[in-house]
Amino acid sequence: MSIQISPSILSADFARLEAEVASIAEVADWVHVDVMDNHFVPNLTLGLPIVESLHKVSALPLDCHLMIENPDRWAPAYVEAGAASVTFHAEAAYAPVRIARSLRSLGARAGVAFNPATAIEPYADLLPEIDMILLMTIEPGFGGQPFLDVVLPKIARARQLLNDRDSAVWLQVDGGVSPSTIERAAEAGADVFVAGSAVFNADDPAAAVSHLRAAAQAAAVRD
Ligand code: DX5
Ligand code: ZN
Repeated sequence: MSIQISPSILSADFARLEAEVASIAEVADWVHVDVMDNHFVPNLTLGLPIVESLHKVSALPLDCHLMIENPDRWAPAYVEAGAASVTFHAEAAYAPVRIARSLRSLGARAGVAFNPATAIEPYADLLPEIDMILLMTIEPGFGGQPFLDVVLPKIARARQLLNDRDSAVWLQVDGGVSPSTIERAAEAGADVFVAGSAVFNADDPAAAVSHLRAAAQAAAVRD
């Protein structure tokens, strides 16, 4: 299992996004872009024009996390705007298989996100249709919230499900990931880690990414 780190620009300075992304370009695997519509979550962030602009200047692939209603309507446009991976919420999707197929047919990876209270089991048979499961370890909407340990058993169940099916689907966690929580998430079986405030509120964002990666790698080996 290879560990990947996807820093979330939600905690970056939105007036200096190019420089903020450049600051982690040598050490991170992805840039996590949180799209919020003030309907699915009580916050409003950014949308297609900013993803397009980021795509032009980012050396890293864009990992777009859509916290929006009606991803059926909007998700494919994020691939056209330059996203290499697009994750939509299970709670918001009307036809998840149709969305995932359309993302993949446009050449992107397809992810499905689950809020803390949403069960993953109904998706077990759909795994061949997707590339990543995102388990929220906070209630989505804001950066800087504490990691919810109550999600750890779900991370472990998701890892078991993937192992039982010999699945190569990635298991991403998002929310409250920090040097003090990443080990628990890695031990439970996550392999892709989103971190916003732990990276962009640090004095040295690149060092913060390296530190998170080392901690996750150590925990994954121990497990
Ligand atoms: C919140 C977003 C997260 C957020 C994580 O709804 O999906 O990606 O930026 O921020 P931290 O790492 O600060 O919890
Ligand atoms: Zn996110």
